Amino acid sequence: MKNLKRHLLIAGACLVAWTHAAWAQFPDKPVTLVVPFAAGGPSDKIARDLAEALRKPLGQTVIVDNTAGAGGTIGAARVARAKPDGYTLLVHHIGLATAPALYKKLPYNTLADFEYLGLINDAPSVLIGRTTLAANNLGELRKWIAESDGRVNLANAGVGSASHLCGLMLQNALKSKMTTVPYKGTAPAMTDLIGGQVDLMCEQATNAVPQIEGKKVKVFGVSSTDRLALPALAQTPTPTLAEAGLPGFNVTVWHGLYAPRGTPPEVLARLNAALRAALKDPDLIKRQEALGLRIVTDARLAPSGHKAFVQAEMERWTQVIKDSGETAE
Ligand code: MLT
Repeated sequence: MKNLKRHLLIAGACLVAWTHAAWAQFPDKPVTLVVPFAAGGPSDKIARDLAEALRKPLGQTVIVDNTAGAGGTIGAARVARAKPDGYTLLVHHIGLATAPALYKKLPYNTLADFEYLGLINDAPSVLIGRTTLAANNLGELRKWIAESDGRVNLANAGVGSASHLCGLMLQNALKSKMTTVPYKGTAPAMTDLIGGQVDLMCEQATNAVPQIEGKKVKVFGVSSTDRLALPALAQTPTPTLAEAGLPGFNVTVWHGLYAPRGTPPEVLARLNAALRAALKDPDLIKRQEALGLRIVTDARLAPSGHKAFVQAEMERWTQVIKDSGETAE
């Protein structure tokens, strides 16, 4: 019996040593960042910036793969089901916290099906409109919306997207139901807004700032509590929606990095360290800050802080969404 116990202990020690050795080489092939929205949108831009900055700390190629649809829930489900080996990760935003309140049957559990690798940034959104709108400020826009009797086409990236949440908060604040037009991401939605096919969208600054600077869209307000003090917007000083007439309006989108539940601790530690290094990349910081993004440097960069933050955001938005009566089909 003693011999058996000894052999089992040795076998166990060998297995642990082998496991450590096996993961010590991670990553020994390219890592994929899944983006749950169409290419060219804010999530995609942030992921591509991050992929570039992760290459050096990981010593590996990092590729971005878009799996769009259903407000980001299809892409999130893909990663929740992926092999937990650290080679398939998810870049996702506030939608991970709002989808549970919107979808009766969500194909994943936000808190249980992911390992939290750290928060990446905070992103303000802006309320933008087609240039052919007569309104030039929020006061005039509100009057036009009230007279339009619901026939206002508000674009978003599907129920559960950041643009959906910001648009929902806007309708609640204005006490005005609009006709929502869903897309696979705000990149295709932006094309239609610039073309005048839709009227309004609440879009992250990441994608909206270049269009505002290029006078391709009109801007009516910033969704967060601080104005966007960007060189690109020097010609278009924009108030916050709160100061422009919607007191208390505050929607800040955030983006985080996730792995499937069950990814080995050694791999999680390696990925979190690489994320921390990537977020110190001067080029990434310059690019993101030029678009109004704020790189996370606080406790939310640690897996535990990241998960606690998302849990708090879930609690915050669940009540607001339930009060609005909004649900996905
Ligand atoms: C995108 O990248 O298309 C956006 O993040 C979609 C959204 O959440 O509004």
